Amino acid sequence: MPNVILHQNGQVYQQEVGENSNLVVLAGVRKFPHLKYGCGMGKCTKCMVKVISGGEKLQEPNWKESKMLGEKLDEGFRLACQLYISEDIELRQE
Ligand code: FES
Repeated sequence: MPNVILHQNGQVYQQEVGENSNLVVLAGVRKFPHLKYGCGMGKCTKCMVKVISGGEKLQEPNWKESKMLGEKLDEGFRLACQLYISEDIELRQE
């Protein structure tokens, strides 16, 4: 099972999630409660996270991420609502 580490406001949260998990979906049912999110549809960027490690195994950014994040994609930012986690990953969210 993938291990997710989330850095947020000086805290570190660590949790195993199921294979192919979407963290915003899990947050919506309080199974990944610390993640901040909004629309869940790639339109608001409230779920934006910076990938610290493990990003090389993520799927390529989709058109919503490209449209909403622009140059931030190159800085390692992704939209959590558009990601399906299947490998260990470490993220930061401000
Ligand atoms: S929750 Fe709105 S873009 Fe991800």
